[in-house]
Amino acid sequence: MRFPPSFLDEIKQRLQVSDVVGRAVNLKRHGHEHKGLCPFHNEKTPSFTVNDDKEFYHCFGCGAHGSIFDFVIENEKLSFPEAVEKLAGLAGLPLPQVSPEAEKRYEQQKDHKKLLEDAARYFQTHLKQDSGKAAVSYLKNRGLDGKTALYFRLGFAPDRRQGLQNYLKEKGYSQADILACGLAIQPDDGKQPFDRFRDRLMFPITNTKGEVIAFGGRLLKENKKIAKYMNSPETDLFHKGHTVYNLHHARQSARQSQAMVVVEGYMDVIALAQFGIGYAVAPLGTALTEDQVKLLWQYADTLYLCFDGDEAGKRAANKVIDRCLPFLKPGKELRFMHLPKGEDPDSFIRNYGKERFFDMLNAAQPLAQKIFALEASLKPCTTPESRTDLINRLSDKAKQIKDNALQGTYMKFLRGLAYEQFKSSRGKKQKGVGKYSLSEGLGAKYQSDEKTLIAKALCLAILNYPILMDDVAEDLGHISFPHRHVENIRLLLLNHYMEDHEVNIDQIMRELEEKGLEKVLNEDVQKDLYALYRFIKPAQDFDNVLTWWRETYQGLQQKLHPAEQDLAMPSDNLEEWWETHAQDLESRFEV
Ligand code: UTP
Ligand code: MN
Repeated sequence: MRFPPSFLDEIKQRLQVSDVVGRAVNLKRHGHEHKGLCPFHNEKTPSFTVNDDKEFYHCFGCGAHGSIFDFVIENEKLSFPEAVEKLAGLAGLPLPQVSPEAEKRYEQQKDHKKLLEDAARYFQTHLKQDSGKAAVSYLKNRGLDGKTALYFRLGFAPDRRQGLQNYLKEKGYSQADILACGLAIQPDDGKQPFDRFRDRLMFPITNTKGEVIAFGGRLLKENKKIAKYMNSPETDLFHKGHTVYNLHHARQSARQSQAMVVVEGYMDVIALAQFGIGYAVAPLGTALTEDQVKLLWQYADTLYLCFDGDEAGKRAANKVIDRCLPFLKPGKELRFMHLPKGEDPDSFIRNYGKERFFDMLNAAQPLAQKIFALEASLKPCTTPESRTDLINRLSDKAKQIKDNALQGTYMKFLRGLAYEQFKSSRGKKQKGVGKYSLSEGLGAKYQSDEKTLIAKALCLAILNYPILMDDVAEDLGHISFPHRHVENIRLLLLNHYMEDHEVNIDQIMRELEEKGLEKVLNEDVQKDLYALYRFIKPAQDFDNVLTWWRETYQGLQQKLHPAEQDLAMPSDNLEEWWETHAQDLESRFEV
């Protein structure tokens, strides 16, 4: 009996070698590998290793080596078909009908892959021809280099109704095959089929082996009437929900990084690769599916999910969490990162550089913390009732995890986070209240624009880095800002922090708007502040922001209450700056 290679691949994709071997051998994790006593010869110290990335086991003692199929054949003394049957069962896959039809389908898939490969070449060739000039300059404008375009095999579909079809037919492919591959559309009126992709930049989509199975096409010019991106339809080879863009490259890079970054778009993947981050992948225009997450976890233990910084990004993150909770398992991780508003990974890495992108990756929130932050930010938890409610909601989340051990750990961990928050917010409240009221009266005496400007910068830094509050809330409670409106922001920040623990930027901006105070810190003001204090821009090194904040705060404190302070030196660049810019800026920052 012959099994189609795609079926054997599917089994390998679904089963880790360590899962299969681990059923018979006691394995311990050892770096990127697993180790245990070799079942094929007698030994006292383990020389038998399993490497899930490389999809094999190897014994340094007796040289036994092979795939999951070899292992079952050797270890259980089964024939190849018996081993396949057993592993297919473990993987939850029904055995393929090895009927004449199945054989035919396999042969057809092979032909279709050839056809799609030829189509990819057609598009690539057209990028180099006159018809592709606009596409090339579009790519250049977006900062893409030729090497990267070649690596991703980008191409161009000329604006012809029969261009690709004629080319393929000349090569001997039938109309039916062209249609079955999704490359042409058959009109309802029975007229001649036309090329699906016309006048578009083309992105070949490959399977895990790197074989072309579909295409995405992007318009060169925005056009409200047609979709910006168009993808191949579902075909026998292409199943959107099971495919991930760039997986075949990324799985190689992920061996080193042990992680993958999941972004939204093709251009994001490509930009990151151009900057040397080869382990980025993207779903195909839909939200990340369960199958896609499982597929990615076969190649990397940690997935960094990259979302936009807006409400839509928040919703998308929520959706992924709900989808993934049931099948979480020990050793596999999800981390969440939200980019600044208005940026996608492509624009972010071009605007801010690779180092800043790594900063964002390093700051990405692990799933448990993310769940906690999302739940805790829904409402304030100051009463026993609201606190118990939070604990219950966190338990409900944990209960969705099917793996028993992991569910237990989540339960404890989430509760721990909640108790920590209850404890710390109680402390802050008691300490804070007296001091806020004390300092409030003092500030008003020291009205000055320079001080106001610094105060605004201190607030803006917190808005960009809410996590700063954990370090600076106490300081912020000790000071009072001279300008009434900025002082308002300070109190808002403190109140939010005391009540919710987390400073919610969107909410604070909304509240400022409601009070008619948005001008105090509107975009123009922000821009000017960034020009003066580059550290407080979004997505900078957090340690720098914190150091800047503390120094600047000290400086301001000394200006406001010279007599009360230790002789802490104010930050010298502040002084210097003020000498040169005071006049010019004075008017612009007055509200
Ligand atoms: P985006 O609209 O965020 O585009 O779509 P992008 O990736 O930033 O692309 P550029 O930078 O404008 O070129 C994200 C992904 O959603 C899918 C595509 O897969 C795209 O990469 N998409 C988007 C569609 O399938 N159809 C569309 O009309 C738009
Ligand atoms: Mn984009």
